[in-house]
Amino acid sequence: MDLDPRRLARLPAHIALIMDGNGRWARARGLPRVRGHQAGVEALRDIVTACAEWEISYVTLFSFSTENWARPRPEVEFLMSLLQRYLRHELDMLHNNKVRLRTIGFTEQLPTAVRKDLDSAIRSTAGNAGLTLVLALSYGSRAEIAQAARALARESASGAIKPDDIDEAMLAGRMQTAGMPDPDLVIRTSGEMRISNFLLWQIAYAELWVTPTLWPDFRRAELFTALEDYAARNRRFGKVES
Ligand code: IPE
Ligand code: IPE
Ligand code: MG
Repeated sequence: MDLDPRRLARLPAHIALIMDGNGRWARARGLPRVRGHQAGVEALRDIVTACAEWEISYVTLFSFSTENWARPRPEVEFLMSLLQRYLRHELDMLHNNKVRLRTIGFTEQLPTAVRKDLDSAIRSTAGNAGLTLVLALSYGSRAEIAQAARALARESASGAIKPDDIDEAMLAGRMQTAGMPDPDLVIRTSGEMRISNFLLWQIAYAELWVTPTLWPDFRRAELFTALEDYAARNRRFGKVES
């Protein structure tokens, strides 16, 4: 299949992906939920290599939310070990595709061993100049906004900034996504019409695209369809159509 969205009128610089539906994929096959997570890694590989080939600058993957800590402990442990395996097994793939890895989220809450593997993958890929792949891990948007508010409060208490000078750019600069462009396109798999506490501040003007496809079945052909749809949209940003 010869898909190349670079021929489209416009491509998103930043795609944010809510990878949902692993549990339902497994249930439909009479398998335990964790097998769905495992199958999701295949989708991840295809999507990451496609985005790298298609010269997308940023992809943020909602991989584990602050709320996901409340899942049954064996599932959480499985997800943590899957992440470790991913970091080890896919490192060559990341390098071959010039992917630079980074994270957002409250990663200090992750188990020490996972953090170590993450740090080493981030360090190892830091010099890659292609796609920046952002893993949102132990990420929650409201907690992130509260963290940014605390940072600004500390800075104004110390006299470094004046409360009346606080503007949108200053708040954006204290988010975990500081320095990254806002997502242009949010994709959610498995049909749920909600954001689930993902990048609330950053997606103020993002285009939304929801597919009923469950994450383990999501592949580049469908991503291409989302990109075609995105290219045909008129992003008005509150202004009159141009
Ligand atoms: C998404 O799939 C993966 C994570 C949230 C870690 P789910 O595990 O949420 O799958 P469903 O929504 O139960 O089908
Ligand atoms: C969102 O999916 C989080 C991730 C994809 C990591 P959830 O399955 O946790 O979200 P809800 O529970 O459907 O809102
Ligand atoms: Mg889900």
